[in-house]
Amino acid sequence: MNYTQIDKTHIDFFIAHLGEENVLLGENCNLYGSDHTENLSYPPDTVLFPINTDEVVLIMKYCNVNNISVTPSAALTGLSGGAIPVFGGVSLSLTKMNKIISINKKNFQATVEPGVINEEFQNILKEYKLFYPPDPASKGSCTLGGNFALNAGGPKAVKYGVTSHYVLNLEIVLPNGDVFWTGANTLKNSTGYNLTQLIVGSEGTLAIITKAVLKLLPLPTETILMLVPFRNDFHACDAVADIMNHQIIPSGLEFMEAQAVNVVRDQNYHNIPFAINNKTSSYLLIELDGERKEKLLVDAEKIYSLLSQYNCGDILLAETKEEQERIWKVRRSIGLAVKSYSIYKEEDTVVPRANLTKLLKGVKAIGVQYNFKSICYGHAGDGNLHVNILKTGLSDHEWDIVLKEAIRKIFELCISLNGTISGEHGIGLVQKEYMDIPFSSQNLNLQKNIKLLFDPKNILNPGKIFK
Ligand code: LAC
Ligand code: ZN
Repeated sequence: MNYTQIDKTHIDFFIAHLGEENVLLGENCNLYGSDHTENLSYPPDTVLFPINTDEVVLIMKYCNVNNISVTPSAALTGLSGGAIPVFGGVSLSLTKMNKIISINKKNFQATVEPGVINEEFQNILKEYKLFYPPDPASKGSCTLGGNFALNAGGPKAVKYGVTSHYVLNLEIVLPNGDVFWTGANTLKNSTGYNLTQLIVGSEGTLAIITKAVLKLLPLPTETILMLVPFRNDFHACDAVADIMNHQIIPSGLEFMEAQAVNVVRDQNYHNIPFAINNKTSSYLLIELDGERKEKLLVDAEKIYSLLSQYNCGDILLAETKEEQERIWKVRRSIGLAVKSYSIYKEEDTVVPRANLTKLLKGVKAIGVQYNFKSICYGHAGDGNLHVNILKTGLSDHEWDIVLKEAIRKIFELCISLNGTISGEHGIGLVQKEYMDIPFSSQNLNLQKNIKLLFDPKNILNPGKIFK
């Protein structure tokens, strides 16, 4: 693809309109060439920080006319390379558009800009006794805009659903600079095509999101957390569907191989606030939330008796917020701890929950066949298993070439189990070569034509999702 190389004229234009403090150049751009995905680095020529929608419009119009590629970015915590500017050009950082514009308690809605940090938003809502459930592991640093782009999930998705379930309306800027709202601020909407939901999860390839109206819930006041050690990984996976079949919907139902916890400990990511028994091969982390503690304890009792059939070890029940938060921190640190432990590739497999055991067995069998080790963990209640494949023990040839065949097998397995190839991390750069696995050529052509309609010159986040 041929994009215009950014030169002094372009930079002068950006500085004149955005101010020098909102235009990064040279080595300062290097940070924007990577996210949390593997070890990739494609620094942009410049990073621009618009502070309002008008500035986004101005940038997009200018780049469209001048054929300059624009890659939206924010906290750079993504795991599929979606915010990496593979063709250089502009990295459009939305981090300075970070206002919570309004919180409407009467309607249980909030209007936000994309650069608001997820956890800061959740904390402010708590003061109003309101709740925005999507909570990716990186919630302390990731932005709502990034969550919209990826349709982020997180542990609470098992009870509350993913980001798309909370996005009611979006203000977007098209690649040509046109700006409009996609829908209405209503809980119901059967009016025309659902552009709001098309933009959510489109990974910054169709439009720039400049404002969002979000649906909120009342804040659950009580929470308990159970940490359950298992001696057999497959027993842990089998228990997941069983819990849900007993009329209990936990607000978190996570699976962690013991090795994932050991890596967090060994990489000094976090103190482990529980004793580690070396017979444990994996854990389930089960969170229950609601209004009445007594009801949660009754459900916890049911889970205790049910799990006794699965040969689990002593269950730890964390009742205080502090204790719960310490355990959650271990869980949320796994991704980064594994990244610092080994060169790795991360696959975001997802299947219907009751097929989780088959998925894990299949992944491990493919690992034996291709001689790789993997650390698996994830949102078991959603059937969403993060498979971190370690480079340890593989030659460069096996890692770069042969492993692609193995990943293909993992994804084919997901499809054969009625799942798909990404549950919450997106396709971005690193999974696009596998898009023929979940989709027919007709389906892929339709999706590519949608991209063309929004972005005829292909200047917005080029090189992503499709080969
Ligand atoms: C997690 C991220 C990697 O669940 O999605 O930790
Ligand atoms: Zn996850």
